[in-house]
Amino acid sequence: GKVRAPTHIISTISDDRGEEPCYAGVPMSSILEQGFGVGDIISLLWFKRSLPRYCTKFIEICIMLCADHGPCVSGAHNTIVTARAGKDLVSSLVSGLLTIGPRFGGAIDDAARYFKDAYDRGLTPYEFVESMKKKGIRVPGIGHRIKRGDNRDKRVELLQEFARTNFPSVKYMEYAVQVETYTLTKANNLVMNVDGAIGSLFLDLLAGSGMFTKPEIDEIVEIGYLNGLFVLARSIGLIGHTFDQKRLKQPLYRHPWEDVLYTK
Ligand code: ACO
Ligand code: LMR
Repeated sequence: GKVRAPTHIISTISDDRGEEPCYAGVPMSSILEQGFGVGDIISLLWFKRSLPRYCTKFIEICIMLCADHGPCVSGAHNTIVTARAGKDLVSSLVSGLLTIGPRFGGAIDDAARYFKDAYDRGLTPYEFVESMKKKGIRVPGIGHRIKRGDNRDKRVELLQEFARTNFPSVKYMEYAVQVETYTLTKANNLVMNVDGAIGSLFLDLLAGSGMFTKPEIDEIVEIGYLNGLFVLARSIGLIGHTFDQKRLKQPLYRHPWEDVLYTK
């Protein structure tokens, strides 16, 4: 038989050796012929399968709604300061991306993990929230700097509306809504945020689409694919902020002394 030299890399998502590159076995020409969009490409390269249209549409809505949220949020602020320090596009972009984490945009995976665990174990929202409090862990996907019970995040409403109309089941999302109803009795800032909406709804997408086995869902949640949606989406805005600062020829940023409390 054939003797193969051991390889140093294993790769399963794409192949450029043939006449045309393939994503998860699908050739580029077929991607164009079938009118695939960015949601389909994410399905192929991240999940290694074609997903139904409502799933790829949902992915695209997540990307569109999270692309930017103004110049004042952590990521855009870092990118703006970096661009104004004369740095290049990639440096300005990654400077903003580096702020994405447990407090800002990067709570989607943990929201999915905690909501899934609590729902699957049959915890009531009260039991879940209070057990988190006992452990000293903030509920990922809950809370916002400026959004309030009487000034909800429109992105959350839009995602929920799409899922209620198009998903076969929204049980995890409804659970997250019950959690929010409880946290709002504690404080008006403890609304469901966009990370919580995407985290809970992606659980519904994974469980309800019939495209994933239970071990595959567990693996996706455990590895943590979902923060990737925010990283990808917000890159669009951060690149925009970089161009904006360069176009406006903004000088080096220096924070005003008056806005710092100098103390011992
Ligand atoms: N779970 C439980 N309690 C919370 C939570 C939460 N998720 N968020 C805030 N609180 C409590 C705080 O403990 C605090 O109570 P205390 O004054 O008794 O200590 C009170 O609410 C106010 O907290 P602040 O720190 O002032 O809230 P802030 O506005 O600074 O925080 C933040 C906003 C960082 C989003 C916070 O709510 C949080 O950590 N949430 C969980 C992480 C998360 O989902 N991040 C994604 C946000 S959406 C996005 O970035 C796109
Ligand atoms: C965002 O999407 O950047 C926001 O939800 C964060 C914020 O503080 O507004």
